[in-house]
Amino acid sequence: MLNKRSTKIWIFAAASLFVGATLFFLTGPVSAHKKTHSNADMQAFDDAYMEVVKIGDQLFHGGGPPAKEYGLTLSKTGMACAMCHPFASDVHPHQFPKFQEQMSEVVGLREMINWCIEKPNEGVKIGIDSEAMIALEAYIMWSHKGTIIDPGTH
Ligand code: HEC
Repeated sequence: MLNKRSTKIWIFAAASLFVGATLFFLTGPVSAHKKTHSNADMQAFDDAYMEVVKIGDQLFHGGGPPAKEYGLTLSKTGMACAMCHPFASDVHPHQFPKFQEQMSEVVGLREMINWCIEKPNEGVKIGIDSEAMIALEAYIMWSHKGTIIDPGTH
């Protein structure tokens, strides 16, 4: 015979199981991706991504129409990023965040992009999460596809 205490435990266990199972069937197994992407989805994502990379490419090569559209002064010296960093060389996006001697602290890639706009370029720094910054980051990262991430190094 079950005593009162063990009956309570059994009722509690059964109720927990019921609630747990109901939640599981309602929400399904936990996953970051609800559905796999179709080829058409992937193509659309890539098209959107490459549009931003192309804007970044123009900004990196002197600004072009996007700089006018965003009202940016990326340089007052007449130097474009690409003149000192041809093909996005020596920008080392895979090393960030890292300790940057010029700023005496650990900074991210975007802070370093702004440093270059303000110091060598004597331009006006851009919003850290502006469309222009994301575009520059997208172009720089795209140029380094396949590079092994190695943060903190020099
Ligand atoms: C006049 C030359 C010049 C121009 C133009 C220039 N840079 Fe630089 N860039 C430098 C120098 C010098 C450094 C510092 C290298 C160091 O000390 O690590 C640097 C460093 C960087 C770094 C960090 C590299 C690292 O590993 O520390 C990034 C990112 C960068 N530049 C992006 C840009 C972007 C984006 C632009 C255009 C908005 C730009 N640069 C324009 C000269 C230039």
